[in-house]
Amino acid sequence: KKILVLNGPNLNLLGTREPATYGYETLDDVERMCRETGTQLGLEVECRQSNHEGQLIDWLHQAGRDQAAGTLLGVVMNPGAYTHTSIALHDAIKGASVTLIELHISNVHARESFRHHSYISPAARGIIVGFGVQGYPLAIEALLRVSTPKA
Ligand code: DQA
Repeated sequence: KKILVLNGPNLNLLGTREPATYGYETLDDVERMCRETGTQLGLEVECRQSNHEGQLIDWLHQAGRDQAAGTLLGVVMNPGAYTHTSIALHDAIKGASVTLIELHISNVHARESFRHHSYISPAARGIIVGFGVQGYPLAIEALLRVSTPKA
């Protein structure tokens, strides 16, 4: 069983980027935590980050094919600011028919109003918001729990 964890734009800056909002853990720390969660749950967890919308779209398309082939349970994605702008990511999730948990480190609803709308949420299986980086293990476990055990 395998899960893909995708982090979008600016999340490579975790640890130094607005730590009052996003905490002091680096992307490396977060990815290590995700893989450890996988080990505990008997899952292979693969982590990728890109600042580029098109790269994320390509990975979602591949994830859809892998899920259809039975080798992937689905995707946990923090789309960063593309959450609030990207119809293309929305379309990619739907077009690829991939099971996706949307994740935000911060509670976007307690922040600026431009963060209150998500183009991703209508295409997501579920959403984890505002639990800091602890949201990653929560999202991985949630994806496992809602997945049919074929991958
Ligand atoms: C974020 C919230 C977004 O509004 C922001 O643009 C990010 C990170 C979060 O994890 O809290 O880049 O997705």
